[in-house]
Amino acid sequence: MDAIRSNNGPRYKHIAETSAPYDTITVEKLTPIIGAEVGGIDLSRPLGNRTFDELHRALAENLVIFFRDQHLTEDQHLAFGRLFGELHIHPAAPHAPGKPELMIIHADKDSPRANGEGWHTDVSCDQEPPMGSILYIRQSPPMGGDTLFASMYAAYEALSDRMKTYLEGLTAIHDGEHYRGQYANYGIADKPSYPRAEHPVVRTHPVTGKKALYVNKGFTRRILGVSRDESDGILRYLFEHMANPLFQCRFRWCANSIAFWDNRCVQHHAMWDYWPHIRSGHRVTVKGERPFYRA
Ligand code: SIN
Repeated sequence: MDAIRSNNGPRYKHIAETSAPYDTITVEKLTPIIGAEVGGIDLSRPLGNRTFDELHRALAENLVIFFRDQHLTEDQHLAFGRLFGELHIHPAAPHAPGKPELMIIHADKDSPRANGEGWHTDVSCDQEPPMGSILYIRQSPPMGGDTLFASMYAAYEALSDRMKTYLEGLTAIHDGEHYRGQYANYGIADKPSYPRAEHPVVRTHPVTGKKALYVNKGFTRRILGVSRDESDGILRYLFEHMANPLFQCRFRWCANSIAFWDNRCVQHHAMWDYWPHIRSGHRVTVKGERPFYRA
């Protein structure tokens, strides 16, 4: 998709809905399409029902929300995640000692790889992929290490009506086999097999009712019911389409920041441009439901 050479205005025309005022938190949008920084909140303290409802709304309206200057223990990070649902255990990644729900996100000069390079939705190979992920970065590099987030509502809406009709009702295979060998440097032995699931190519968000494109380069291997070459061609197009900067925001981390993204309508991509510096933290992931499509 060429956003530069359009003669009919922007390739994707989006008007940000005006949000009802928030009473207990502040919410500053990063872009009209995706991302907002939430202020006036200390996540280490118990949240009242009203604040919890407003956080829920801020996530639904902005798809990914960011918090600065938070000081949480590991248990407080886990407790914050549990407010939103049962916690997910990653099928392959390392976790904090004795805390399987606290995934380690760490890269330094000796790391063979960093987590999340490349566009993906977390663990979409699960039958019931995670609803959301809450990443707490305790140590950030002096510069770089940003995370990019892209709205899959926007990616879906910007498709032509013909493409939307073509994709309706299609399903695709999401495969976790690429985890094999990825965490060997942590001494983690491979499992005999990793999760694999079939999901709709377009999913309906269970809270907002909006449609989102639900294929990602990290996990989606094949659209079912069409030939292999057609599947490859369509997926190649959709992966290129979803990565248009029009659908994105980019978060600049500093130490003690948190990002909470909704995996049902967001893809993300972590930059590893800070080598040889250290970027380190933990991710708590909230379980989700089986994706569905409602016309
Ligand atoms: C991930 O959860 O995919 C990693 C994201 C990041 O490190 O920014």
